[in-house]
Amino acid sequence: MDSQYRITVLTLFPDLVQQYFATSIVGKAVDRGAIVPDVVNIRDFATDRHRTCDDAPYGGGAGMVLLPEPLGRALDSVDADRRHVVFPSPSGRPFTQATAERLAGMDGVVLICGRYEGIDQRIIDHFVDEEVSLGDYVLSSGELAAMVVIDAVYRLRDGMLRPESVSDESFQDGLLEYPHYTRPEEFRGRRVPEVLLSGHHARIAEWRRRQQLIKTARNRRDLLERAQLGPEEYKRVQELLEKE
Ligand code: ADE
Repeated sequence: MDSQYRITVLTLFPDLVQQYFATSIVGKAVDRGAIVPDVVNIRDFATDRHRTCDDAPYGGGAGMVLLPEPLGRALDSVDADRRHVVFPSPSGRPFTQATAERLAGMDGVVLICGRYEGIDQRIIDHFVDEEVSLGDYVLSSGELAAMVVIDAVYRLRDGMLRPESVSDESFQDGLLEYPHYTRPEEFRGRRVPEVLLSGHHARIAEWRRRQQLIKTARNRRDLLERAQLGPEEYKRVQELLEKE
């Protein structure tokens, strides 16, 4: 891997994000040099005695909004004008594996963690390149959302050093993953499917593909509709769906 991938996180809770970067799994990617974390405390850029970072919204309404000035200075300090800035929020475009892959292909990202009701719209208009949503629910912590984005991205970046670890998983081919089994051969009366013990690679591959189709048909018909299935597979899935 040529360049380093810099992940800058702007937050009011730096300890939380630093903890995540220090955990063993992502920490190893940091040690390997796959990613370079950079956690910035927005509060360090507040200038008043109380280090205020939020205020009530103009026009009234519940909750507090992050002030644009401290956050703007924090963004300036990391050269955000010249970098790709992502703001996780429930109002964003859906964050998918394809988004993660696109972000992993850049040279780094800046993530803004929102709190309270949100951030001043002018920050979004001035700095933010994309607003991404993890799903149709509201988290109270922008840090959690940012960590989800980082997690999905860094492992692809790290995976570029070890590509076999990401090539076989859910969404790589538009379908969900096949089930996995390990020792023992029998657990609480449930046996590992015989085909997996057969050593017959072609049959195993075929079984796994079928399992992917079954699982995707059951849990995510929306994905199945978009997956590029050959005519044989399409027929199989139709049969399966008729039985459901
Ligand atoms: N922040 C709060 N809720 C969120 C969501 N659903 N997706 C992304 N960021 C969020």
